[in-house]
Amino acid sequence: MSEKNNFILYFSRADENYAVGYLEKGNTEVVAETISQILNCDKFKVEPAIPYAKDYATCIEEAKQRQETHSAPILGRVPDLSSYETIYVGAPVYWGDMPEEMVTALKEVDLTGKRIRPFVTHEGSGLANIPYQLQELCPAALVEEGLAIRGSHLGTSEDKIVCWVERGKVYEKKSS
Ligand SMILES: Cc1cc2nc3c(=O)[nH]c(=O)nc-3n(C[C@H](O)[C@H](O)[C@H](O)COP(=O)(O)O)c2cc1C
Repeated sequence: MSEKNNFILYFSRADENYAVGYLEKGNTEVVAETISQILNCDKFKVEPAIPYAKDYATCIEEAKQRQETHSAPILGRVPDLSSYETIYVGAPVYWGDMPEEMVTALKEVDLTGKRIRPFVTHEGSGLANIPYQLQELCPAALVEEGLAIRGSHLGTSEDKIVCWVERGKVYEKKSS
């Protein structure tokens, strides 16, 4: 795989999260770093212009409000993605969807003709609505089979990430 063909665009938040307590690095960021190492490709982290609260209870309310009002400005601009064939789009599940900042970021770019490979971290919802949301936001892109990783199982998920990157499809254990 050529490194120029792939790019990773993702969102992730450290601090307090469901089932994992306070994290120094967000779960999706860990997955993004693993994919970037496998593919030797560049990545861009979407940062909220207004940081989310550090505590989980406040954060979920802020996230809901941003999604409902479609208001989530981001810091800086998404890099030019025109030269890449495949965009790995990574996000935590927030109320079944992506954080609204990812919506803002994706509205800035034209992914016509590109392959989108979604990777998601969650605590029970799996990919949730995210592949559909991506297809709606990027109607002229091809959204491929996504990867869902439970944040609280991240420590034992490396093989799965490698397998998905190289072969495209993996299944999650139903519960634990
Ligand atoms: C605002 C908010 C909403 C969430 N909503 C869901 C959800 O609907 N379904 C789910 O399985 N997990 C949900 N979670 C858990 C996160 O998806 C999960 O902890 C994820 O790994 C966080 O990724 P990050 O550390 O990269 O930010 C939510 C977490 C937050 C903070």
